[in-house]
Amino acid sequence: MKQFTTLLTELTDGILLITINREDKLNALNKTVIAELGEVVDEIYNNPAIKGAIITGKGSKSFVAGADITEFKGMNSEQGKEFAKRGHAVFNKIEMSPKPIVAAVNGFALGGGCELAMACHLRIASENAKFGQPEVKLGLIPGYGGTQRLTQLIGKGKALELLMTGDTIDAACAEKLGLVNDVVQTVELLDVSKALISKIASMAPIAVAEVIQSVYAHFKDGIDGFDIETELFGKCVATEDFVEGTNAFMEKRKARFTGK
Ligand code: COA
Repeated sequence: MKQFTTLLTELTDGILLITINREDKLNALNKTVIAELGEVVDEIYNNPAIKGAIITGKGSKSFVAGADITEFKGMNSEQGKEFAKRGHAVFNKIEMSPKPIVAAVNGFALGGGCELAMACHLRIASENAKFGQPEVKLGLIPGYGGTQRLTQLIGKGKALELLMTGDTIDAACAEKLGLVNDVVQTVELLDVSKALISKIASMAPIAVAEVIQSVYAHFKDGIDGFDIETELFGKCVATEDFVEGTNAFMEKRKARFTGK
């Protein structure tokens, strides 16, 4: 795999561990990180050796402390829109990945960091994780999908509270709100995230990809998610893995899925 300047990557047993590697800047997302995340997500889509991925931040303090604020200086309105569009394109690609992507949130997940975690399919937080959308403190709103994904995940009332106050919440509170799937001890974070990906990767890959498509159809304007579910159910029934899965059940053995 290509060497990145702001990301570390390690592929083990089909799981790609992506570490954002700007520890001295608390892994803030500058233009290069966004561009390289886009490239590494393409690799997840296209490389058959990759069954799923984990995104985390380097060090013990921060997942991602937001977009790189130093890049905001002198930005005009058009450049602001371009900034948001670039982030949306990458984060939407993460969200629609047919293979599972888990955020292993190992500290601050603020602004673009919280947005990145929310673009992932699942979020596992370490006990020291902190979440928030502090953009209003900078005279901004979230620009990488935060107003939408936070509302989808925790509901309008709490989302508005966090977005309008810019407050930071701890991992236990994030779990209570449904912002994270699980909170674990820091030393266990990567192992728990890997185990989760491995469990999903042992299921029928096409079925997993269609679960993602079908769930996200709920949030797409002008699309009836029930119609999409019907369509994709039919598609799954036509797969070899459906035959294998049902045969394995009948024969009381573990299914051997091939992704076909
Ligand atoms: N963009 C650019 N640089 C950032 C950054 C960001 N979002 N967040 C942290 N950094 C940099 C700091 O400027 C500092 O760099 P320096 O050592 O060259 O001065 C370094 O990372 C360490 O951060 P520091 O603020 O000294 O750590 P702290 O422990 O005192 O505070 C935070 C941690 C997360 C509370 C604080 O860094 C912060 O509020 N960051 C901005 C969060 C934010 O508003 N994000 C949304 C952006 S849209």
